[in-house]
Amino acid sequence: MPPRSPAWRALLAGAAAIAVLAACAPRAATTAPQTAPSATPSRGPRVTPGAPGEDRFVDSLLAMMTLEEKVGQLNQLSGLADPTGPGGVEAGAGQIRRGEVGSLFNVIGADTTRAIQHLAVTESRLHIPIVFGLDVIHGFRTTFPVPLGEAASWNPEIGRQTARIAATEAAAAGIMWTFAPMVDIARDARWGRIVEGAGEDPFLGSAFAVARTQGFQGSDLRSPTSLVATAKHFAAYGAAEAGRDYNVVDISERTLRDVYLPPFHAAVCAGVQTLMSSFNEINGVPAHANRLLTTQILRDEWGFDGMVVSDWTGIGELLNHGIGADSADVGKAAIDAGVDMDMVSEVYRKALAGLVRSGRVPQAEVDAAVRRVLALKYRLGLFSDPFRGVSAAGEQSAMVTPAYRAVAREAARQSIVLLKNDGNVLPLKKTLATVAVIGALGADTGATIGNWGGIGRPADAVSVLDGIRRALPKASVLYSRGASPSSSDTTGIAAAVATARRANAAILVVGETPDMSAEASSRATIDLPGAQMQLVRALRATGVPTVVVLMNGRPLALQELDSIMPAIVETWFLGIEHGNATADVLFGDYNPGGRLPVTFPRVTGQVPIYYAHKNTGRPSNDSTKYTSRYIDVSYTPLYPFGHGLSYTTFTTSAPRPSATTMRPGDTLQVEVDVTNSGSRAGDAVVQLYIRDDVGSITRPVRQLRGFSRVTVNAGEKRTLRFPISVRDLAFHDASMRFVAEPGTFTLFTGPDAEHGESVKFTFATSDGRPVVVADDCR
Ligand code: NOJ
Repeated sequence: MPPRSPAWRALLAGAAAIAVLAACAPRAATTAPQTAPSATPSRGPRVTPGAPGEDRFVDSLLAMMTLEEKVGQLNQLSGLADPTGPGGVEAGAGQIRRGEVGSLFNVIGADTTRAIQHLAVTESRLHIPIVFGLDVIHGFRTTFPVPLGEAASWNPEIGRQTARIAATEAAAAGIMWTFAPMVDIARDARWGRIVEGAGEDPFLGSAFAVARTQGFQGSDLRSPTSLVATAKHFAAYGAAEAGRDYNVVDISERTLRDVYLPPFHAAVCAGVQTLMSSFNEINGVPAHANRLLTTQILRDEWGFDGMVVSDWTGIGELLNHGIGADSADVGKAAIDAGVDMDMVSEVYRKALAGLVRSGRVPQAEVDAAVRRVLALKYRLGLFSDPFRGVSAAGEQSAMVTPAYRAVAREAARQSIVLLKNDGNVLPLKKTLATVAVIGALGADTGATIGNWGGIGRPADAVSVLDGIRRALPKASVLYSRGASPSSSDTTGIAAAVATARRANAAILVVGETPDMSAEASSRATIDLPGAQMQLVRALRATGVPTVVVLMNGRPLALQELDSIMPAIVETWFLGIEHGNATADVLFGDYNPGGRLPVTFPRVTGQVPIYYAHKNTGRPSNDSTKYTSRYIDVSYTPLYPFGHGLSYTTFTTSAPRPSATTMRPGDTLQVEVDVTNSGSRAGDAVVQLYIRDDVGSITRPVRQLRGFSRVTVNAGEKRTLRFPISVRDLAFHDASMRFVAEPGTFTLFTGPDAEHGESVKFTFATSDGRPVVVADDCR
């Protein structure tokens, strides 16, 4: 049945929009991924705010709405297919008819979403379409590497491609909005959600925030392959005390602005349409009630004109934070702060109208929030086609195409990090007669998908064991479970040892189960869990050549493993092509080029550990007592940020700045040569770091300011150029001004954040005073 003519229909300009609404005809989804040229900017071009005709349309629609209908637009309910927190109310048809639901999430499928949308656009008084959301984090049906793993590719273009495919698949299933990218900087590996972001660094994190935002949203939000993206969790969620999820955050405003906010700002500059508030408090003010963040910084300073959604029951949880005595108090706190949509807690639905009628919340504040929700729906084109052309047939043909699989394999290969390869144990020879794969994770297809796996299916996935069997069709590939991350049972170890003894080489797959690095999955020790270390030791004792394949979603403390095993390959959770990509690397069909986006400690007690630390008054030195160090372990990481080996070798030149003195308007061009000094082609990741030698505020020992992943043939030299502008020198000073201070700076290039060559240049201003730098989208 075609929808009745909605009251706002006449407001839409153009016959095309009206025709589409009347017909609700299914349209085939575009399945080809769109790719964009490779780039690693920390900021993208700003999307022009608003869409043509938006203000007029939204204002006119708003004028037709009752207060209850307005509040309904701010209410988001979950289909409860996948609750990610306590509570949650399933939306009933009655609520939709009454206009009490602006958005639904965890409702998947072309037919299901169409049916619900039909109800909304035909039976609610104003026929306002629903926006369907979902956590599409690292793939929908085609799963790609978990975000931390993908960041190890140091190739944001891969992030853009995988997000584009995820959007295309999810949109075909009726989804319009993803709660991704997660752009939280995380420096404490105990925090389970470190897996969802791009690691510890704001510069690398910003590049991935931009790429993923652009990948999800595509070039046109009205395209049936686009999803609205969400930069989350705003803000500083990754700084939870003791790495314990949801815990308090107490950091300086400078650290907030210099470390935790840049990826959010970059996403805003790239046109992200929504942000999600974070569960934590910051310096005593919960993010869901934080006007400094959500209004002052986000809207007033950055000019964000999109919508802010709460996290799951985040507004209701303000009661537990203790900043309000009842729903009315916390509803007021959240709407005053600038949180537009209430995910699941229904505080807005129950309290907001009363707050307006009693004069505690201005009508204009609610109107502003509703306007943002309607604008989002307008930008998605929902008032022209509330169904975005989805159909069951289109949905089926959109999933896991061969082209998507190819991208999944490439993304997986690029994300693998070769941590250690003593004596060039790797790559293994394909002529091996017998290979043993050991470890529960090795045969676990489900684990490859990782946490937040969308609707990814184990049946689509390739385990490490299967990947190796495919790569070695002539070899005998044995398997023994040995031990698992989730049990202390050691009874399988003897059989695993016996299996390994029958083989020419053993591939030992150890790590975490996907749900160990996830939401609400903080760990107090980040060692190899279960009886896996006993398995490692037993395998080592056999003398059988053994390589270790790690599957995990956070840095692990691998001091002992590293001390007894010659070759270690970090594979994270790589998605459906995990096994094929791992075999590609193990047997040399692909030369690994991934680099760590996060520091690996030696032991848990070192965390939080990150490369961009301050020097202190007593800089760390393992051999001098009264310095900043430990008495029982080195202060240095096991594997530094940026670390990763290759089957070839590279030499990187010292940085060559285009001038020895830089002035405020200048862009310094810094050239770096990278030479492949080995005998096979490989990917180098050239990293450029900077240090402000003397500052009015203490400065980190290094900060990443440029990077590039390039393929270099054996014997070839490539020269890369990185622009450095005044913005790259700036930080927030004692008065919270974003300034660059005159003086000397050191540039570093090298294989990781700890090593390499350096050179100095001088930044000079006309009067010898700091210059204030515009913290805008340029
Ligand atoms: C809670 C998580 O913190 C958030 O990241 C997610 O988007 C929502 N649940 C919805 O599932």
